[in-house]
Amino acid sequence: MSGFSVTPVTPVTRYHPLARALHGLLGLALVGNFALGLYMVDLPFSPTRLQLYSWHKWLGVLVLAFSAVRLLTRLLAPPPALPVAIEAAMPVWQRWAHHATHVGLYLLFFAVPLLGWAFSSAAGFPVVLFGLWPLPDFVPVNEPLSDVLKRLHAWAAYAMAALVLLHVVGALKHHFIDRDGLLARMR
Ligand code: HEM
Ligand code: HEM
Repeated sequence: MSGFSVTPVTPVTRYHPLARALHGLLGLALVGNFALGLYMVDLPFSPTRLQLYSWHKWLGVLVLAFSAVRLLTRLLAPPPALPVAIEAAMPVWQRWAHHATHVGLYLLFFAVPLLGWAFSSAAGFPVVLFGLWPLPDFVPVNEPLSDVLKRLHAWAAYAMAALVLLHVVGALKHHFIDRDGLLARMR
């Protein structure tokens, strides 16, 4: 009675390979830059702090550029529809939350770095990518504005962290509790 193979009723429908690669790459970059942001703001003034600020800005600008590539990939190669069995097992609120989390994340992938960039400009520290290429300032130097942008950048980053947490908990629930194979779509 050993070893008969089971053919899945619904074949796994996966995201485009580039979408899967960007999901991993940007996931790591965003979590890393969030942690770096939290760490660097509490350091005393020193050359190390300045260096970490620069790395934080450069990595954030790279995230912004790759998020544009990601969005383009999504438009050109839309995600496959959820398998009927998985979708049917989800209550309406869960289907809505699934979709809304992704929309919220995409918005924040752009808002967080753009707010950081705008804050730098308003504070009078233009961004020079890799110390080589000065990026344009799209807001003027203005102290009250820079205070607002600083707070908005931090709040947007915390909101993104909260959504990522929700997203990962949801993904793990599908994997370990529902055992519905959803994770394979992004692997
Ligand atoms: C894209 C991913 C990014 C994430 C996840 C992120 C996240 C964060 C976080 C969590 C903080 C600490 C906030 C606090 O607790 O006060 C922070 C601070 C900061 N971020 Fe970002 N950031 C990103 C991109 C950028 C970019 C692109 C720039 C500028 C070009 C930037 C500029 C800054 C600056 C200057 C601070 C320090 C603010 C202060 O001195 O209080 N960030 N960031
Ligand atoms: C343990 C970590 C993670 C796991 C297991 C995971 C798993 C998944 C899975 C299975 C999907 C596809 C959902 C579907 O089929 O509809 C997905 C989509 C997505 N994930 Fe993650 N994820 C993780 C971390 C992250 C992180 C850290 C971020 C962002 C910083 C992120 C952002 C996204 C986004 C935006 C989508 C939607 C992609 C699209 O539809 O274009 N994920 N994730």
